[in-house]
Amino acid sequence: MAESSSSVRGFAEAGADLSLVGVSKRFPGFTAIDDLFLDIPAGSFFALLGPSGCGKTTTLRLVAGLEEPTQGKILIGGKDVTNTTSYQRPVNTVFQSYALFPHMTILENVAFGLRRRRIADAEKLAKEALDLVELAHVASRKPSQLSGGQQQRVALARAVVNRPALLLLDEPLGALDLKLRRQMQLELKDIQSEVGLTFLHVTHDQEEAMTMADTVAVMNHGRIEQMGAPEALYELPTTSFVAAFLGQSNLFTGDVTDSSATTMTVGVAGVGIVVPLDRAQVHRGVVTVGVRPEKVTLHREKPSGSNRTVIGPGRVTDASFSGVSTQYTIAVPGFGDVTVFAQNTSLGDHARPGDEVYLSWSPEHAFGLLDHPSVSSGKFVADTDTGSLVVAEREKLEAELEES
Ligand SMILES: Nc1ncnc2c1ncn2[C@@H]1O[C@H](COP(=O)(O)OP(=O)(O)OP(=O)(O)O)[C@@H](O)[C@H]1O
Ligand SMILES: [Mg+2]
Repeated sequence: MAESSSSVRGFAEAGADLSLVGVSKRFPGFTAIDDLFLDIPAGSFFALLGPSGCGKTTTLRLVAGLEEPTQGKILIGGKDVTNTTSYQRPVNTVFQSYALFPHMTILENVAFGLRRRRIADAEKLAKEALDLVELAHVASRKPSQLSGGQQQRVALARAVVNRPALLLLDEPLGALDLKLRRQMQLELKDIQSEVGLTFLHVTHDQEEAMTMADTVAVMNHGRIEQMGAPEALYELPTTSFVAAFLGQSNLFTGDVTDSSATTMTVGVAGVGIVVPLDRAQVHRGVVTVGVRPEKVTLHREKPSGSNRTVIGPGRVTDASFSGVSTQYTIAVPGFGDVTVFAQNTSLGDHARPGDEVYLSWSPEHAFGLLDHPSVSSGKFVADTDTGSLVVAEREKLEAELEES
């Protein structure tokens, strides 16, 4: 008997919690996921953010049931699904390497899952889903007659139309140009709040993660380094990796020389940098402190009589104007290169390369990290090439699709 569409929607309305409990995935000679704990509440938009090779796709494949964990448990809606097959999980995935049925029209591609489940108004629902991604006008074409970005949106429609309790998105916007990408980000967010599903979105684009998600988890080497609301992660990073991967940070390392009930002072090149204790992960010994570039102010003269932290003089080595703001690089003896973002709110009086300037910030914007930046640390550490794996994954998917 045909399942009615309202019951499909009913299934979806719930959205489901997802929990990973101590999950590890070891490939021969390589640990891709290391003792991962993750709780994603029902109905939330959760982003997994990290550099190439950190284990994002592997995490999704584990949740989707395409990969078996070496250790640990996976729960969906409170139910242990660790030992179930991918077909038994209320999960749909939009893969990094999407694959459409080449011999079917776009509409047939989107309706495929519904038809297989013998849902009566499959075609109507598929049309609605195509409307959602603004591709109703290409419904009768074949995938090869679409651009890469359009195909990616079809893949999205095909997943959303099934109203899975949990939708896994692996870089679903990767092939789109910047403008379409921004537009699709907003649309995806709308779709998510409209249908109330739980979204687990994987990306290495920090801006995308911050715009779209309620909660962002920053992943590095198969582990979650920090997790929280985008603003919280940005304003108070706890590790040097997060401080550098999510936005930019100026980091300075020195000894804690003094502390009070609420603050500590870190000595760097003879300057006492004050950090609130509740914004510091470590309160004694050698500590790395940071401040975001937009929190730093440039001064022509040494500012006096304020309770701001002041460093300098330094010399402007670079000034790049980007319309709304100017990014300055200032070489400050003992502090290295310091980056400053200044909003272009006043006419004239911009600092130029060669100018001597002082820098200041309010102590409440400083943060103290758990660790220190390693020499090799940067945005693209561990840039393991996963390209060949993506190709392999795509070939496997295509084979699976051909069979079904
Ligand atoms: N089947 C496999 N056999 C061996 N190693 C694997 C396998 N699959 C993944 N890996 C390794 O596990 C690590 C994580 O891979 P994964 O595909 O999860 O990365 P990712 O975070 O999705 O990266 P990207 O942003 O490049 O897509 C990589 O170092 C990769 O080389
Ligand atoms: Mg990946």
